[in-house]
Formats: sequence, C-alpha cells, structure tokens
Amino acid sequence: MKQEKDKITAMTAYDYPFAGIVDSSGMDMILVGDSLGMVIQGRENTLPVTMDEMIYHTAMVVRGTSRAMVVGDMPFMSYQVSREKALENAGRFIKEAGASAVKLEGGADVCELIHGISSAGIPVQAHIGLTPQSVHQMGGFKVQRDEDRLMADALKVQDAGAFSVVLEGIPSPIAAKITDTLTIPTIGIGAGSHCDGQILVLHDMLGINSRPLPKFVKKYADLNAAALLGLKQYIEDVKRGGFPSSDYEYK
Ligand code: KIV
Repeated sequence: MKQEKDKITAMTAYDYPFAGIVDSSGMDMILVGDSLGMVIQGRENTLPVTMDEMIYHTAMVVRGTSRAMVVGDMPFMSYQVSREKALENAGRFIKEAGASAVKLEGGADVCELIHGISSAGIPVQAHIGLTPQSVHQMGGFKVQRDEDRLMADALKVQDAGAFSVVLEGIPSPIAAKITDTLTIPTIGIGAGSHCDGQILVLHDMLGINSRPLPKFVKKYADLNAAALLGLKQYIEDVKRGGFPSSDYEYK
C-alpha cells in the first residue's frame, strides 16, 4: 500500500461489537491498544494495563473481525524485563488471542526485542515519538521534537525487522521526512497528513467519552450525546408508563 501510495486506515477497538463495526467500515487495520487503560478502564494512563487484560480484549476483537489485520499492543512491562519474557508475551497475542501482529513502544532501546520477536515469525509494529508508556520519563504527554533521534529510531526499528512504525506526537515535517526515508509504512497519530497511514483512538473519534481530547483528534461522531438521548427517553417512557407499550408485551 505504501508503494502504491494507498493510505492505510487504522483504528483502535477493544471489544466484539465495536470490532465488528470497525471491520465492516472497511478499515485496514485494528489495533487493540493499551489505550484501553484510559478509555475503557478510566485510568489516568496506560501503565497499569496487564497482559491478561490485553489478551482478554484482543480475543474479543479478533472474534468480531473477519477482514482487517488485528494488532495486539504489548502493555508496559510485558517486554521490557527480558528478551525471553517479551517473546513469550508476544506469542500469547498470537496463540491465545488470535492476533496477526504485535506492537511495542520504543526506538533503539527495543531493537533487540523487535528482532527476536520478528525472527520467531511474529510481525512487529514499532511505535516511536510520544510513547505513552514512558509518560513519566517524558514529563507528561508531550510532542517529541528531537529530529535526529526520531530519524535514528525510525531507521533502527526498520533495520531490526519491524513491518511498520507508529509515529505519535511528532511535528508534521519530521514525520514527513521519516515517511519518505523509510521503506516500511508509517502510521501517524498526531504526526500530520504525510504519513503512509493514520490511526486514532476509537472512543475519542466517536465521542464516546467526555475526557478532554488532544489537538490531533477530529471527532467524527457524538455517540455520548446519542446514547444519553436514548437513555433519557427510556427513563421518561418508564416513568410515565409508556414503556413497555403493547407492542413490546407477550400476549
Ligand atoms: O494504545 C493505543 O491505542 C496506541 C495508539 C494510539 C497508536 O498505541
């Protein structure tokens, strides 16, 4: 798709019904992101998410997907401890959950792991720039602007065997240079329009949560408002005895 300049569309999903909706929209790739810690579990960041939780959600997404590529996101401390642990956990996404690939955060520091996992036959998507699992080291969720480091990280993860790289929170001109330099596709989130593909967090773009959104998120729907409207109508109907009407009763 990169060679044909056909933009890659990617979206997160975390459960069976939404995976079905995303898949039937024609999306190319579904990421079961550890962002579920924030948008599903209501946590402040992604750090507490566990491997077992990721396997649970990834299996649901795989069951709801028939055509898109499903990528499982390796959570904090599931790959940093040792090469063996990283390989074992990457394998769980494939064997137990049925994912087709895994994603992990980091650049030069995780190249050995990328090489080990991809050598075992598991496609690895890298993730550089604003890497949420390093939120404390970065001093918050901040745009990353060190062009030399970002370019070096991108080239290193490609050389290590990554099939694709997520560029998050990077100024557009830097992301464009990286995209033009690499042979593997870049998937941008807060990295401008020149990337080979784009990804967003589903609950942000569909307006499911009311948390403040980063600048790069475009809200394509307001499901929060639609759901509230339906729920309020139900309450009103029940209170006035309008539901269930005879149409919804067994005779
Ligand atoms: O966890 C996630 O959803 C991600 C995407 C935002 C790329 O890593």
